[in-house]
Amino acid sequence: MQYSSKYPDNELVITRIRVQKGFVQMDKKIMVIGAGQMGSGITQVAAQAGFSVIMQDVKEEFTARGMKTIRTSLERFVKKGTMTPETVEEVMSRITPTTDVAMAKEADVIIEAAIEKMDIKKAIFRQLDELASDNALLASNTSSLAITELAAVTKRPEKVMGMHFMNPVPMMKLVEMIRGLQTSDKTYQTIEALAKEMGKTPVAVKDFPGFISNRVLMPMINEAVYCLYEGVATPDAIDEIMKLGMSHPMGPLQLADFIGLDTCLYIMEVLYEGFGDSKYRPCPLLRKYVEAGYLGKKSGRGFYEYA
Ligand code: CAA
Repeated sequence: MQYSSKYPDNELVITRIRVQKGFVQMDKKIMVIGAGQMGSGITQVAAQAGFSVIMQDVKEEFTARGMKTIRTSLERFVKKGTMTPETVEEVMSRITPTTDVAMAKEADVIIEAAIEKMDIKKAIFRQLDELASDNALLASNTSSLAITELAAVTKRPEKVMGMHFMNPVPMMKLVEMIRGLQTSDKTYQTIEALAKEMGKTPVAVKDFPGFISNRVLMPMINEAVYCLYEGVATPDAIDEIMKLGMSHPMGPLQLADFIGLDTCLYIMEVLYEGFGDSKYRPCPLLRKYVEAGYLGKKSGRGFYEYA
């Protein structure tokens, strides 16, 4: 089926252009910056939804690892019988791994999922603003940083917004949608439609430090670390209490390991500085673990040890 747009402004619509052998092909090309835990997850759900996706990172070994993570995740669906091996290959074929950020010129929507540092994100947004087409929308998967500040380094602040996915991206339904001060309604609507096409549930929040998810989650994790620091209970006991008593799928310390202790510390610092309120003071034990290189699951050791 041939696609012809009846809409003069291609920002507004995401269209299914081809249905072949049960596969849906979307007309918009997505680029994801970063092939780590979040970047590869976002790439996967976009490709599963039928989009062509360019997944960029600075080294080939990072994009190769990202591709491996995606394949492993898709194969879990095959094992469960919810996806066929043929679909796995179709999804993988929609992904172009690259180290060339200049491929941004081909993308309609670019989702940045790089390291959680404002100066690095600003440098990426400046570069994307230069490289991407004038119509392209820029979204950031930042978990706590100000979208308005990030948008201000571009010449298109109305086309910038926050699109915060949760980890593991293939399993978690939420996308926190953050409008910067200058984000246009058109941008919001397009990104909202994109999140829905990816099978996610978008929820709107304002541009405040930590938004909602991490403003509520991280102080809970930080408090669990204080409990450990003060010797109130062991890591296992703290996690067991929250799992059995509060029906959380994993305890706060295990979840911190899973998110990355460096990320948890960084978000607490954003909250502490952003609100200037001592209730957000990062626990010294969290800081010490990060200094020791105990970053959680990804480093093999956090509050628990991983093989
Ligand atoms: N890809 C595909 N499938 C996956 C997967 C992945 N990456 N990860 C888990 N699964 C599937 C498993 O195959 C399994 O499927 P079935 O139940 O159908 O067999 C299912 O998920 C459950 O997995 P497990 O049995 O291995 O483990 P679990 O029961 O503990 O569930 C979990 C895993 C879904 C991650 C669950 O533990 C959970 O919900 N944990 C909390 C996650 C959370 O809070 N995420 C938010 C983190 S905060 C964040 O991301 C924001 C930020 O800015 C820091």
